[in-house]
Amino acid sequence: MNAEITGWGKCMPPNVLTNSDLEQIVDTSDDWITTRTGIKERRISHVEASDLAAVAGQRALAAAGKSVDDVDLLLVATCSGDTIIPSTASRVQDKMGLTNAAAMDLNAACSGFVYGLVTGANMIRGGTNKTVLLIGTEKLHYLMNTTDRTTCVLFGDGAGAVVLEPSEEGIGLLGSDLGMDGSAGKYLHVPADGTQGEIGRRAPEQCGIAMDGQEVFRRAVTMMAESSLLAIQKSGLDLEDVDILIPHQANVRIIDATARRLGVDSARVFVNIQSYGNTSAATIPVALTEALEQGQIEPGSIVAFTAFGGGLSWGSAIVRWGERVTPIATSDAELPPADKTTMEILQSNLDFFGEKSA
Ligand code: UT7
Repeated sequence: MNAEITGWGKCMPPNVLTNSDLEQIVDTSDDWITTRTGIKERRISHVEASDLAAVAGQRALAAAGKSVDDVDLLLVATCSGDTIIPSTASRVQDKMGLTNAAAMDLNAACSGFVYGLVTGANMIRGGTNKTVLLIGTEKLHYLMNTTDRTTCVLFGDGAGAVVLEPSEEGIGLLGSDLGMDGSAGKYLHVPADGTQGEIGRRAPEQCGIAMDGQEVFRRAVTMMAESSLLAIQKSGLDLEDVDILIPHQANVRIIDATARRLGVDSARVFVNIQSYGNTSAATIPVALTEALEQGQIEPGSIVAFTAFGGGLSWGSAIVRWGERVTPIATSDAELPPADKTTMEILQSNLDFFGEKSA
C-alpha cells in the first residue's frame, strides 16, 4: 500500500506588504529586494496561524471530497504557531471540528511540509491511518525584527494543506530523503522564542529571526540539490523523469542555483516567491496548490519537492501524481475580513522592535 495526495488548498491572508511599503520601515529598496531575492510582496496576517490553517484545511478536504469526520490524523507543520501548549494542531483540530483525529505539530522549519508528507504517508503505509490532513501554516511576521533589513524583507504569512489517502503501489510517494545538521542551527534562529534562558530577560532583538544569510544560502543550494538527487535515486527514477520541481521558496537565486546544479531547466521549476516571500512550512503546499490550479500537473506527473531551512534541516520527496488533478468540490470557508491595514498590523512590530536599521 502507498499514500497519495488527494486534496489540496491554500489560505493567504488578504493584507499585502509590498517592497515599497518596506522602504518606509527599513533602509532598503524595491530594487535590492527584487534583484537579490525575487520577492515583490508578501502577506501579513490579521488572524492566527491556526485560523489560516483551518481555512486551508477545509479547502483541501473539499478538494479531496472528504468530510471532517474522515480525518484520523492532523499534522501541522509550523515554526510560528499560536502557542506551544496546546499545540497549534490542537487549536486547528478544535476550529475545524476534527473530532476523530489525533493531532500534533511538527517543527522542521522550512522543511516541515516535506517532513510531514513523509511522516503522514508512512502512517498510512503502516496501516495506522487512512485519511491524513497535513497543513503547513505560518504567521512569521510575529518574528519580523523591523530593525533588521537582512531578514525582515524575506518572510510572509500563509497556509497550505494537503490530504493524504491510501493509494495503489506506484502512485503517490515514491521516495524521500530527510536530514538535519543541528550543529549549524545557529545560522538561522530565533534566540529567545522557547524556554531557554532566564524568565523575563528577553531583549527585543532576541525575539526576531536572526540569520547568517550567505551561510544559509550556500548550504541551501548544496543540500537541496544533493537531497533531491538522493530522493530521485531512491524512487528508482532519473532526473529526466521529473516533470515539475516544486522547491521551498526562500530566494529565487537559491531556486535558480539549485536547478542549475541539478541541470533542470527553469520551465520545469515552479516559482511563486514574488507574491508571498518565504512562508516557511507553507511555501510548498501553497505552490503545489497553485501549480495544480494553473494546470502544471497532469495525471501521472512526477512531482519533486525539496526544502531547506532552520535546524538546519532539509528534505526532498518524489511523488507520482494519480489520475485526478482537479478538486472534487470547493469549500466556502473564508477568513473573517481584515479589520486593520497592513501597517496597522505591523505597528506592534515597530513598537516592539523599533524602526529603521543603522
Ligand atoms: O528558508 C530558508 C532560510 N532562508 C534562506 O534560505 C535565505 C538565505 N539567504 C539569502 O537569501 C540571502 O543571503 C539574503 C537575501 C539574506 C541576502 O542576500 P545576499 O546577496 O547574500 O546579500 P549580502 O548578505 O551579501 O549583503 C549584500 C549587501 C550588504 O551591504 P554591504 O555590506 O555590501 O554594504 C548588506 O548590508 O546588501 C546589504 N543588504 C541590504 N540592502 C538593502 C542586506 N539586506 C538588505 C536589504 N536592503 N534588505
